[in-house]
Amino acid sequence: MNCVKTITDDLTWVGANDRRLSMFEGIYSVPYGVSYNSYLLIDEKTVLFDTVDKAVRQRFLENVAFVLGGRELDFIVVQHVEPDHAAALHELTLLYPKLKIVCSDKTLGFLEQFFDFDIRSRAHIVKENDTLNTGRHELRFIMAPMVHWPEVMVTYDSADKILFSADAFGSFGALNGAIFADEVNFEKDYMDETRRYYANIVGKYGTQVGTFLGKVAGLTVNMLCPLHGFVWRKDMGGIMSKYALWSSYEPEEHGVLIAYASVYGNTENAAEILACRLRERGLKTAMFDVSVTPASEIVSAAFRWSHIVFASTTYNAGIFVTMEALINDLAAHNIQNRTVAIIENGSWAPTSGGLIRGKLEQCKNISFVDAGLSLKSSLKASQTSEIDYLADEIAASFPATQLNAAAAAGVAAPSDAVDMTTMFKLTYGLFVLSARDGDKDNGCIINTVTQITEKPNRVSLAVNKSNFTHDMILKTGIFNVSILSESVPFGVFEQFGFKSGRDTDKFAESAYSDRAANGVRYLPEHVNGVISGKVADSYDYGTHTLFIADVTQAFILSGERSVSYQFYFDNIKPKPQPPKEKKSGYVCRICGYVYEGDVLPDDYICPLCKHGVDDFEKL
Ligand code: FEO
Repeated sequence: MNCVKTITDDLTWVGANDRRLSMFEGIYSVPYGVSYNSYLLIDEKTVLFDTVDKAVRQRFLENVAFVLGGRELDFIVVQHVEPDHAAALHELTLLYPKLKIVCSDKTLGFLEQFFDFDIRSRAHIVKENDTLNTGRHELRFIMAPMVHWPEVMVTYDSADKILFSADAFGSFGALNGAIFADEVNFEKDYMDETRRYYANIVGKYGTQVGTFLGKVAGLTVNMLCPLHGFVWRKDMGGIMSKYALWSSYEPEEHGVLIAYASVYGNTENAAEILACRLRERGLKTAMFDVSVTPASEIVSAAFRWSHIVFASTTYNAGIFVTMEALINDLAAHNIQNRTVAIIENGSWAPTSGGLIRGKLEQCKNISFVDAGLSLKSSLKASQTSEIDYLADEIAASFPATQLNAAAAAGVAAPSDAVDMTTMFKLTYGLFVLSARDGDKDNGCIINTVTQITEKPNRVSLAVNKSNFTHDMILKTGIFNVSILSESVPFGVFEQFGFKSGRDTDKFAESAYSDRAANGVRYLPEHVNGVISGKVADSYDYGTHTLFIADVTQAFILSGERSVSYQFYFDNIKPKPQPPKEKKSGYVCRICGYVYEGDVLPDDYICPLCKHGVDDFEKL
């Protein structure tokens, strides 16, 4: 039984979907299936645009016969020889003996390589801008070499302003009953598959895609009919601008793709920690285990994101197998214009980093973040500063405008509509909030004290419920706020911010014993003023309680400036330390042993495999 879709009054989709195929072209997984599109134009002459893959040709032939309704098929335009679009050509010539094959000279040569029937005598050869009049329609042929194969051409119907675009603007994913992109939530459900299709199928040929886009830029296009995926009749600017972007190899979004290869989870652990550090710096991150996620998805992500971190263990003195395959794949797809950072691991000879860099240096416009991370088996606490430094360096490689605009520019999904880093732009002070419950004194760091009214003089403060001080204030209704000044040392934050009053006595461990009139302690040093409060109201906001309090006492302690949250980050919080200089040395090509030193003695013998200096190379 036929299954066709109407495109216009005289144009019908006669293709078919395949959801049984596991690997498209034997390489690319297609978990959502794939469509093979073919279009049949019914005019004074009947014209078919391409055929389908052999897996679905039976349905396709039924579709063609149904739409023809007993008429002859006069022409088939072969825009692309690849067998997923030309497999049914021979059957068509048997079913429709007068069929003419419209194709370029190059296409004819390829067809003769794939088939053994007489094609040449049926061929109607066309060149760039040749036309074919079919009655109401005039078809113009435009060559699009290497958008995916050398023979590819597209066809422009100047009557209805339809561009039959061959592989261009196609997508993985079966059509599921729809035919037009505007019938589905394309951005949400199909954009990833469209990007994956582009990056893997034509990603290598950005220059040629750019040439093709230039050729069709002057055409008025009311509809795009690709060989895979949906027909576009609305909002074509979106998909066209994606193609313009992808073909230029410019990143689509500012953020960090982390691809890691880990044997026992230690490289993965470092990658995870780096991702956390990058998120803390307001950067978007995406992570893939290259041994698990199909390479086509990671190649696609590489076309999307501006920065890539490769984290790989060393294996057989080289790059881990799956990571090496991925990097070769990325290079084959012409990846360029990216900023790259590298984490390497190796229990006795971590050499994967240098090898990864060597491969990527062959690609165009790859800039490397100088900071790297070299692990010996696993990340140690002593390397915390190194991973912080790496995160800082990656963040620093984002121009400030991009860093700020990152979320906004790339945000498509509503869930990303709020960039939480914007909250860091608010001006906050920093305070020690103290309370007393019986004999127990306690305090914590907060940043949310604000005067809300002058008469009565009231303040508000939001306090996280996980703070013990919160519970004490909820119970007693009184507190002090010590307003920290710019001389405050980091130790005050360690004392009151990094410990819990539930298991330590924070004031007992400090030298502070002063109490305000309410009997609650305050800090007499590095503080320019103290406010005592009595709770008038409290509101439960999930993670926090908002206290509204009457000011019962307030006094100045110094003329120092109050410390701001920004000042704290810029001047008080310790900076991550740059990693130690890497030592120079030589690596044994046989076993991977590393000799550390500038000069390798002529008579040196590898202590592991006993090979001599000829088998060593400089790191
Ligand atoms: Fe769907 Fe290049 O073929």
